[in-house]
Amino acid sequence: MAEFKLPANSIVGKGKTYHAPSGAKRVRSFQIYRWDPDAGQNPRVDTYDIDLDSCGPMILDALIKIKNEIDPTLTFRRSCREGICGSCAMNIDGTNTLACIKAIEDVEGDVKIYPLPHMPVVKDLVPDLTHFYAQYASIKPWLQTVTLPPERERLQSKEDRAKLDGLYECILCASCSTSCPSYWWNSDRYLGPAILLQAYRWIIDSRDEFTGDRLDDLNDPFRLYRCHTIMNCAKTCPKGLNPARAIGEIKKLLLERSL
Ligand code: SF4
Ligand code: F3S
Ligand code: FES
Repeated sequence: MAEFKLPANSIVGKGKTYHAPSGAKRVRSFQIYRWDPDAGQNPRVDTYDIDLDSCGPMILDALIKIKNEIDPTLTFRRSCREGICGSCAMNIDGTNTLACIKAIEDVEGDVKIYPLPHMPVVKDLVPDLTHFYAQYASIKPWLQTVTLPPERERLQSKEDRAKLDGLYECILCASCSTSCPSYWWNSDRYLGPAILLQAYRWIIDSRDEFTGDRLDDLNDPFRLYRCHTIMNCAKTCPKGLNPARAIGEIKKLLLERSL
């Protein structure tokens, strides 16, 4: 899998090293990107040697151990610890993924951890996703209708419901968008794979009555057509989803509509 570039502000210097206690038998080194924009210093990489015999199996377990026992200044996001909330997305061993479902033993050698690439950094491993969330809001990720609602819920056939499989599972972790070179260079105008997968989720929903408007909104050389089928998004998605396929389906619908 492709090694992704570091964030734009990465002039990374050598940082501190924290050694494991003497007598530790299964020691692994974690090299972690550190940057506090308020401190007025360049980013650095700190090294933490961890005894795996006293650590849980996942990368997130190691980060929590470091924060609790070695260096409380280390900053990262996490919540569910089971691959549902999307908040612990980061670049581990050259790949964007979720720290809570990435096993330490799946990484060979030193474990290198950086924030999601090409995003502004709030601190250490925390990216600033303000623009990403604004792009999400721009696709109106809710059911839009003009007809009066039925007495109870709007129903779907089993077949129509099945069309949402592979889409509704997206947890908006941004791993895919931040692995996409097109998004790296054009994120000001290109929506990127995560948001386009979400857009398709509403386009294909049989209960939504604004399909045409949704397609109009995407029919733009930048918002949609900056996808050049590079496929990093599908390779990296920690939930096994395929944003590239969703983007292809949107392009197909636009083509069919134009004929
Ligand atoms: Fe994350 Fe996958 Fe959704 Fe992209 S498609 S935001 S990688 S869950
Ligand atoms: Fe990017 Fe995926 Fe398209 S990596 S260019 S969004 S296929
Ligand atoms: Fe929720 Fe990792 S902590 S996805």
